Amino acid sequence: MDKKIQDSLKFYIKTYGCQMNERDSEKVHCILEEAGFKESSIESADIIVINSCAVREKAESKIYSEIGRIRTINKKAKIVSMGCVAQFNHKKLKSVSDFVVGTAAIDSFYDIASNINKKGVFIKEKMDNPEYIFPHKKGISAFVDIMYGCNHFCTYCIVPFTRGREISRTKESVIEEIKRLVDNGTKEVMLLGQNVNSYGHKLGYDFVDLLYEINKIDGLRRIRFTTSHPKDFSLKLINAMRDLDKVCEHIHLPLQSASNRILKLMKRGYTKEEYLEKVYQYKEIVKDGSITTDIIVGFPTETEDDFEKTMQLVRDVEYDTSFSFKYSKRPLTKAKDIEPQVEEAVKLKRLNKLQDLQAEITQKKNRLCIGRTFEVLVEGKAKKGDMLFGRNRQNTVVNFDFKDNIRAGDVVNIKITKALKHSLVGEVVC
Ligand code: SAH
Ligand code: SF4
Ligand code: F3S
Repeated sequence: MDKKIQDSLKFYIKTYGCQMNERDSEKVHCILEEAGFKESSIESADIIVINSCAVREKAESKIYSEIGRIRTINKKAKIVSMGCVAQFNHKKLKSVSDFVVGTAAIDSFYDIASNINKKGVFIKEKMDNPEYIFPHKKGISAFVDIMYGCNHFCTYCIVPFTRGREISRTKESVIEEIKRLVDNGTKEVMLLGQNVNSYGHKLGYDFVDLLYEINKIDGLRRIRFTTSHPKDFSLKLINAMRDLDKVCEHIHLPLQSASNRILKLMKRGYTKEEYLEKVYQYKEIVKDGSITTDIIVGFPTETEDDFEKTMQLVRDVEYDTSFSFKYSKRPLTKAKDIEPQVEEAVKLKRLNKLQDLQAEITQKKNRLCIGRTFEVLVEGKAKKGDMLFGRNRQNTVVNFDFKDNIRAGDVVNIKITKALKHSLVGEVVC
């Protein structure tokens, strides 16, 4: 491709959804930049990419409203619809976009970049080469895909239909990608997969083996990962979190519900008791370990009694934070046909109750940090005031006063002086 041809062209990317989508958008950003495009505002872009999420109905509808909005402010730009909605509903998106790119066809941006005046639909069932190392932006912290897809088919979830069957990248290509990142200044990696605990089952090694290998990489300071499915969350992994110095003390362990009847209908593969046993094992073995979760309220047939079980578990476990959602009916999933569905007003009431409880717990836990000292990896200037920010190993954001000799990428000890709703404030300990 002649780089000069693209030199005057500009792009804008809008991303919805989870970290996997953020990582995919980063790949697209880098592919376009390498081809000579420049990032710009939505108004002046020649090509606008919308990376969509399909996990809930509201998320899905955003891609259509966003395309409508773009057309009113920028009539000339080429529109690329990509991501999870594109993968399962490309026919509908084709009529309103110039290009449609599915989740397994990110590499087609190399073609799109060479000629944005063609139109095209790029949908593949499987990636041509899951080992391919896509480029990264420069940064202290980086997302690294270790696997793609999901084989679980929880009855509410559309992801297996938008991301395909599970496939793990080999440890050689993951390690190579991380080494390149570290050579470029990255200090922390977030390993991404829908269920990292089932990593590698066809490769002859597992997720813990991979963690041991990554932990050996010189220059890397921290390893994080998401998401851990509770069914496969093992004692072996808990012990590795204790023993490996770079692996941070934080686990995201989506509960979804604490009613065994609902868990069964969701096809989650664990009971409340099994979940709790693992949580208590983790809390005992991983010193100062934080825990976060995802919860769905108003799954079909959920009663007040089922919901109360979830509330009680949240009180008992005391999550550091949780992400909670009203159940949303998704096409292709089994739960959409389960009756009775829960009324919208009831879902909303339960969601508010749960979120109020979580806010209380988060604040209480943040207040308990006052006076304690945490190791913080500095990420850069904070949004407000003359402050720097970073995260502690437990994944809480910590803001602290600017100091001339502290740079992004440094690891500093910060003593907490103040607890805010979602973050901490502190001062550097010399
Ligand atoms: N692979 C991850 C979750 C990916 S989707 C896991 O298994 O934990 C992220 C979260 O979205 C889920 O944990 C769930 O809480 C929520 N979610 C998925 N489908 C949903 C639906 N139909 N309605 C509401 N929330 C949903
Ligand atoms: Fe969806 Fe379940 Fe797979 Fe997570 S494990 S992506 S909730 S089907
Ligand atoms: Fe992520 Fe949404 Fe797709 S949560 S995997 S972007 S459906």
